[in-house]
Amino acid sequence: MNKKWIATFALSLVFGSLNAQKINIAQAFKHAEAQTRVLLTEIQKDTLAAKKNQVSPRTIEHGKLVMVVSRDWTSGFFPGELWFFYQYSKDPKWMELARTYTEKVRKEQFNTGTHDLGFMMYCSFGNGYRLTGDTAYRSVLIQSAKSLIKRFNPVAGVIKSWDHNTDKWKYPVIIDNMMNLELLFETTRLTGDSSFYKIAVRHANTTMKNHFRRDYSSWHVVDYDTETGNVRQKVTAQGYNDTSAWARGQAWALYGYTMCYRETGDKAYLKQANGIAGFILKNPVTPKDGIPYWDYNDPKIPNVSRDASAAAITASALYELDKYSKGQGYRKAADKILFSLNQNYTSKPGDNRGFILEHSTGHRPANSEVDVPINYADYYYLEALLRSEK
Ligand code: GLY
Repeated sequence: MNKKWIATFALSLVFGSLNAQKINIAQAFKHAEAQTRVLLTEIQKDTLAAKKNQVSPRTIEHGKLVMVVSRDWTSGFFPGELWFFYQYSKDPKWMELARTYTEKVRKEQFNTGTHDLGFMMYCSFGNGYRLTGDTAYRSVLIQSAKSLIKRFNPVAGVIKSWDHNTDKWKYPVIIDNMMNLELLFETTRLTGDSSFYKIAVRHANTTMKNHFRRDYSSWHVVDYDTETGNVRQKVTAQGYNDTSAWARGQAWALYGYTMCYRETGDKAYLKQANGIAGFILKNPVTPKDGIPYWDYNDPKIPNVSRDASAAAITASALYELDKYSKGQGYRKAADKILFSLNQNYTSKPGDNRGFILEHSTGHRPANSEVDVPINYADYYYLEALLRSEK
């Protein structure tokens, strides 16, 4: 038996049948668009949100829609979803809505207080620029990248994630931060200035060295000493404990290194992405439907919540990774996850205030957003649907 065959066989044993059923993309979009029309009506009804400058729908709490201000890390996902609807349908009505909701986060281009600018600005303005070529969007992306690299420390070789909880950590970097590098790679393309690219590569390399265990699972938070560049501690904030594998963190890592390989062609990133995919797909803890529990190491499994958002991010990443690592079964694994999400994790028509997916877990240790719809699950679900077509 050759190596490739053994890997595919192992994947099929643990991850169930590789003959995943294909979903009907047109129907999936029809459902998602109808839900989003419901959500848009809910937003209109929320007059208090408008007064509080809350611009983007994030989740549901106690049955009520939660809107967030533009500086919230999730503010770019809803505009991004609207761009995906435009991409799929070419309907100018979706473009108009996408433009309207994208504008609402524009001022964050100057925000230097968070690493999340990639999520906020690339999902909104980045998709807008990709689909329209609007030069005004291009300027916003460049300014956003300039703000983001202000958080880079050359001694530690990483971009700082958070400024809060200074009693717990000094210079925290979370695995999620890999996602923000796409904005930097794009900005080097837009400007010809390689400094954005170099910072992204430095961050990816430092993270590859310090954030992963031997089995390719990742810590959530690595705290650095910026005098020496040494690691102070490896801990969690949103996972079960410091030695556990928080499901969404693994998904961010997979997506991040797949994207870094696309942007650089560096084989080390491809090896990393393959290793992470192995951890996720061969993990015996994951239920047969491929949607992970919120943390792979919660001792209360199976009586704990799932994280549909981790599954959606993973599916989207696997469609891309399949292009670079042929014969590993990644496309079939992605099809299977997407099929599960589509069949068993979508809201019933009109339910959940118009969010598309249910059963995501935001921050379990804080008992916040447990088993609820969340905008980033919807965003990566739509991206995965689009990628599944190619
Ligand atoms: N980036 C924060 C989260 O994944 O919850």
